[in-house]
Parts: sequence; C-alpha cells; structure tokens
Amino acid sequence: MDGDATLGRGQVFSGQNYKKGARIWHRHPHLVWIGGVLEEDISFQTRQVRLKLEDDTTVEYDITSLEQLPFLRNPAFLVGKDDLTLLSYLHEPAVLHNLQVRFVNSQSIYTYCGIVLVAINPYADCSHIYREEIIQVYQGAGGEEAHFDMGAFGKSQSIIVSGESGAGKTVSAKFVMRYLASVAASRSRSDQGRTTIEARVLASNPIMESIGNVKTIRNDNSSRFGTFIQINFCERGRRIIGAEMKTYLLEKSRLVFQAGGERNYHVFYQMCAARNHPVLKDLHLGPCEAYGYLTQGGDSRIPGVDDRADFEELLKALQMLGFDGKQISEVFRLLAGLLLLGNVHFENGESSSAVSPESAQEISRLCREMWEISEGDLRVWLTRREIRAVNEVVTKPLTKNEAVRSRDALTKMLYAHLFGWLVEKINEALNDKEKAPSPSKKRSDRFIGVLDIYGFETFDINSFEQFSINYANEKLQQQFNQHVEKNRDSIGEKLLDVMVAANIQTMRTVIGPAAVSSGAKSIPITFSSSQNPSTSFIMMIIMTFFVSPVCASDPYVYIKNLGELEKLCLMLLIFGALGWLSLTNYVFCIEEEIIPRNRARVRGNESIEMSTISALLLGMIVIFGAVCATAGRVEIFSISIILVLFYLFTFLVSLANDEDQHGLQRDHSGVLGILNTVSKNTKPYLLSTVFSTALLAFCSEHIIEPYQSIFGAMGLILLLFSQIFLLHTAYKSSRRAID
Ligand SMILES: Nc1ncnc2c1ncn2[C@@H]1O[C@H](COP(=O)(O)OP(=O)(O)OP(=O)(O)O)[C@@H](O)[C@H]1O
Ligand SMILES: [Mg+2]
Repeated sequence: MDGDATLGRGQVFSGQNYKKGARIWHRHPHLVWIGGVLEEDISFQTRQVRLKLEDDTTVEYDITSLEQLPFLRNPAFLVGKDDLTLLSYLHEPAVLHNLQVRFVNSQSIYTYCGIVLVAINPYADCSHIYREEIIQVYQGAGGEEAHFDMGAFGKSQSIIVSGESGAGKTVSAKFVMRYLASVAASRSRSDQGRTTIEARVLASNPIMESIGNVKTIRNDNSSRFGTFIQINFCERGRRIIGAEMKTYLLEKSRLVFQAGGERNYHVFYQMCAARNHPVLKDLHLGPCEAYGYLTQGGDSRIPGVDDRADFEELLKALQMLGFDGKQISEVFRLLAGLLLLGNVHFENGESSSAVSPESAQEISRLCREMWEISEGDLRVWLTRREIRAVNEVVTKPLTKNEAVRSRDALTKMLYAHLFGWLVEKINEALNDKEKAPSPSKKRSDRFIGVLDIYGFETFDINSFEQFSINYANEKLQQQFNQHVEKNRDSIGEKLLDVMVAANIQTMRTVIGPAAVSSGAKSIPITFSSSQNPSTSFIMMIIMTFFVSPVCASDPYVYIKNLGELEKLCLMLLIFGALGWLSLTNYVFCIEEEIIPRNRARVRGNESIEMSTISALLLGMIVIFGAVCATAGRVEIFSISIILVLFYLFTFLVSLANDEDQHGLQRDHSGVLGILNTVSKNTKPYLLSTVFSTALLAFCSEHIIEPYQSIFGAMGLILLLFSQIFLLHTAYKSSRRAID
C-alpha cells in the first residue's frame, strides 16, 4: 500500500485519541513503519506534531490536514489476533505489524481477515504446519468453508488466490486442492485398482508446472499462465467425480527470450538434465548450455532444485494421467525439436535470407530425427513469406531479422498448441471419460473452482504481456472487491475502502475514468429497462409525444399547435429527462463499479453524494410538475398519470421479482443467469409500455377540465415518490447482481 492508498486518518480516529503519550506509527525509510508516542496533545489548533520514536529519535512535522495525523497503534492485547477484523485500528501499519507478530512470534503464516485468508510466504519448508489438525483449522478456512457452503447451500463455490508474483498463490492453491482431495477421498469408494480421481487431480500439478512455470527474478517457480481448476463433486459434495482445467494467456514470449537471471519453461531444463533417461536417449539432447533458447538468462540452475528428479516426477504424472508411451515420447520429441529450431541461425543471402551453413546440422537433425518433415520445405518457410492477393499467391523473401522472427513465431505457435493439447488431455483424464462410461456414474451437481493466476510484477521495462498480466490482476482485484463489498462487516469496512481506493487509482491510470465507468456496464448486471428510472423515463417521453396514438398521426402539427407555456413544458420535460438520463447513469456506473455505499468520487477528488444529485433532479421534476399542472392540457396531464402508473407498475413488478431473482442467481450463475435476469426484467417494461400507450389514448379522449390540473399535480407527486422508490430498487438490484 502506498501513501495514496493509505486510509485517511480523519475518517478513522476520533480527536480525543490523540493525547500526549498516545502510541502511534510513523513511516520509516527502512523499517517501513516504526512505533512511537505523541509528545503533545493534538487539538484543532495544533499545527505541528511531535513524536518520540522507538529508536529514540524525535520527529516534528507540520500538519495541515487530518490526513497527516499519525496512525494510532492497537492496544497490545489485540496484537497477534488471528483475525485482522478484531483489531480496533485497521490500517496499513496495523495489518503489517499484526502479520509480522504472528509470523515471527508464533510462526503462523495464515491470518483471517473476515472471509479472506491472508497467507505470508515463509520461503521455508513448513511441512510441519500442514499437519492434519492445522489443515483443518487454517487451510480449511478457504477449502473447508467452500466445501461446507457447497454442501449446505447447494451452490458451486470458487476460491480466488491472489497476490503478487512469488506471494505463494500456486502453493496455496495446491494446498486447497490437497485438502479437497483428502476430504472427498476419505469418503470415496474404491476405484477398482485405478488411480483415484483425487490422485489424478493432484498429478496434474507437476505437469502444469513443468510446461507452464519458469524461474523469474522474483520467483523460482513462477506460473506463466492463469489457471482455473474446477473440481466437480456429486452427492452434495461428498465425492469428487472429476475436474476440469481452464488456462489463460500463456506467456509465449518467454520461449524465445529470457531476461537476465530468468529461465525458459522448466520442462526444457528437466529434459536436458535427464537426457540419459531411457525415454529421452534417442533424442540425443545436450546440456542446456548448448541451446540458444535456454541460455539467454545466464546461469540455468536453480539452487535447491533437482531438474532430473523433477523430470522423473513429470514422467510419473504423465503416466498416471494415462498418457501412453508413444504420446509421451512425441511430446518430448516436439520439445527437443524446438530447442534445435532455436539453434537455427540465418544470414543475409543475395536476394533473401538463408539458413546459415553452421546451422545445417541442426536443421537436418530437426527435420529427420525430430519432426519428420521435409527439410527443403522448412528452409523455404523459415526464409519466405506467402502473400495471397485476390487471385494470386506470391512468395516474398524475408530479411535475416524477419527470418529470426518467423522462426520464433513458429516456436511459440508449436509450444502453445502443445500446451493446449496437454491441457485437453489432462482434462480428459480428470473427467475419466473413456475409462468409466458406466451409466450409473453420477453426474456432477456442483463444483469448487480454484483460480490461480500469474502474479503482478513490475520491471524497468514491462512488455505488453506483463502489462496484460498486471491488468488481469487489477481486474481480478476489482471483481474481488465487489464480491467482498457485500461482506463489508466481515472484512472490515476500513480495509475494504483502502483496497477499493488503491484499485480504482490503478484502473483509472490504465484505462481512464470513462473506461472505469464503462467497465461497470460490462459487469453482467446493468439495469434492465424496467428498473432503470432514467431509461424508462426517457422511453416514456419518446413514446408519449411521438409514438402514442394522440400524436403519431402528425407530430409536427401537434407541436405547432401547442401554446407557449406548453412548448416550454415540453422542452423542460425533454431536457430534464436527458439530464436525468445522463446524470443518473453516470452516478450509477460509478456507484455500482467502484464506490461503496452512497459516495461517488467523480474526476479528481470531488465527492458527490448520490442522494444530493437525486434530490436536485427530483426537485427539478417537482418544479416542472407544477408548471405542467397549471398548463392543464390534456396531453400533459395524461403524461403525468401514465408516468405514475407506469412507474408504479414497474416498481410493483420489480418488487415481485425480488425473491425470484435471488433464487435465480443461486441456481444460474454466469451468462445464463444474466440472460434470465435481463429477460425477466424487460417483460414488465414491455407490458407497461403497451398498457400505458392504451391509457394515454383513453385519457386524451375522455378527461376534461378542471380535473386535469388536480390529477396532474397528484400524478406528479406520485411520480416523485415512485422515482425515489425506483431509484432505490435499481440501486439494490445492481448491488445484488454484482454480488
Ligand atoms: N506455504 C508455503 N510454504 C513454504 N514455501 C512456500 C509457501 N508458499 C510459497 N512458498 C515458496 O514461495 C515460492 C513461490 O510461491 P508460488 O510459486 O506459489 O508463488 P506465486 O504466487 O504462484 O507466484 P507467481 O505469480 O509468480 O506464479 C514457492 O516456490 C515456495 O518456495
Ligand atoms: Mg504461481
């Protein structure tokens, strides 16, 4: 958390806590935060703060706002609590200090924060803490709760593991899977001698790590792809019946380029280390130093990692997941071919580039021994490009640099396909499609998903891929914030505000304020027509003046015949509606996307209370209503009545839908649920459109003065209330949909 994200002191601490001797935190250049005490009381008149720090130094600084007040420390008896939400003061130094105390004093790496489990990466062998009883207490926190909720509420669950690169996401995700496998395995029936599904789920880990993990500066085993593993259960969660894995955005650029101190995908180094293994013997691999694709990062060894042993594990996992000998050897043959391809160099020839003579042996071995393809063809397609015109196909020679790029592109494409194929095969093995097609096999009724994506990283120069990874992390954090928003009380309202503020700042920087709000609309819950007061309002105006039977015949004549006052009313109505539309949409977008409760930050630090805007707009409508009522024209009166009826109708329908939507969202998450919700909510709108159009025709024909004015005024008052109700309903429904 940087200074910007740090919670405002003014919001958190009351003034009487800042007395002489109060224990506070002060930012420190090396220790990050250091404890201290206040040397003097702080009051409204105070312009300078004097602190005595724990390192016996005295600090004095000027304050001009509440934000500059020091953070207060928690009472000693609270420090070390296993749930951060129990702390009196929940801010950056309090969180860090509590986690530190737990880690150092009691070697506890897990701490609750409401519904979130915070894990500290110990970077040490902590196998002792994963004893069965500890797993039940902590690791179970994510896994067990998800498992319990799934059984108790009949709902699929997902666990998001997030954090920067090297934070321990993959390790934690593996523990969650291990926990789930052990819970379900203990109750599973015998699998007739075959590898159990739980063992297969766990066996997918070494394969995915070999082909999708690398050494980076921050993490020796960094995942370079995102994964969502879905463990399917039946019998209300008592038994695992399969699993499914989805992967995202494999970092392909790493195959052909690695920065200093980094490595290519582990599998290549494992193969080189185990080159004498019977499975690899025929490939005649050399040490990793022999391959251009493996040496760009410098030293290829990772302290404490035995690549050969990892190769054995990979092989075992592949066999366990049902890959046969031929498939396994083809996988390694393809990978060995990629290493040879990386050693193919080019030189500038007379008319085009050509494979350099020093690479002749590589390319011929690659084509004959590895891939069994025509060497002539490969030479042509590495150094030429095919251009298809309308009726013609021509080939264009490539320059040396272009040929290198084309070689690298081929490597990336082949590896990505191999990766995709392996994931597909693993999925088949995890679903056991071929082996157990028994009709008695139970269908999956729900799942627990574990999302582990590559962590956030920043370098001096960030590639586009890194940018995308970081953006994906921010997006995920945003999603997470929205989910946690409904559990404000459990996570700690203040901490959530910090998380949300930090995330908004980043999202704004990356995609701009407009995109932040349009992002809101992309959330699968934007208001349905019936519930969005602004949309329905403007639709009513269009319908009333231009579509309704009263004026549809000739709107021009109709408007021309209106008196001055009525024209003014009409203009007010249209402009008022347009203003209403844009303002409420704007506020709602910001509301639903990023800002908890009723506070919307709009451009810069300006803060707008949503209720203020609503009151302003509603006030405008009241004035407008009064003007309309005095005009007393039948059409204007009709509009009021119809608007009221329309809003009341939609409001009642939306109320009736409330319970339904709850049930609906329980059963159908994802696209189906959204479609259902939208179609359900548009129905009342359509119905009320037809109904109110018919009524408009009736009113314009039959109602006469003086009742028009009285009814008009009453109608507008009712309209006012129904608007407020609708606004509230729409807000509630948007929040529910986000949840
Ligand atoms: N609970 C743990 N116990 C012991 N060591 C751990 C634990 N969690 C993480 N580590 C260590 O930290 C390293 C990095 O963890 P991990 O690979 O899970 O990070 P990550 O968050 O998935 O990073 P990335 O986003 O780069 O994939 C592990 O290789 C392991 O050495
Ligand atoms: Mg990882």
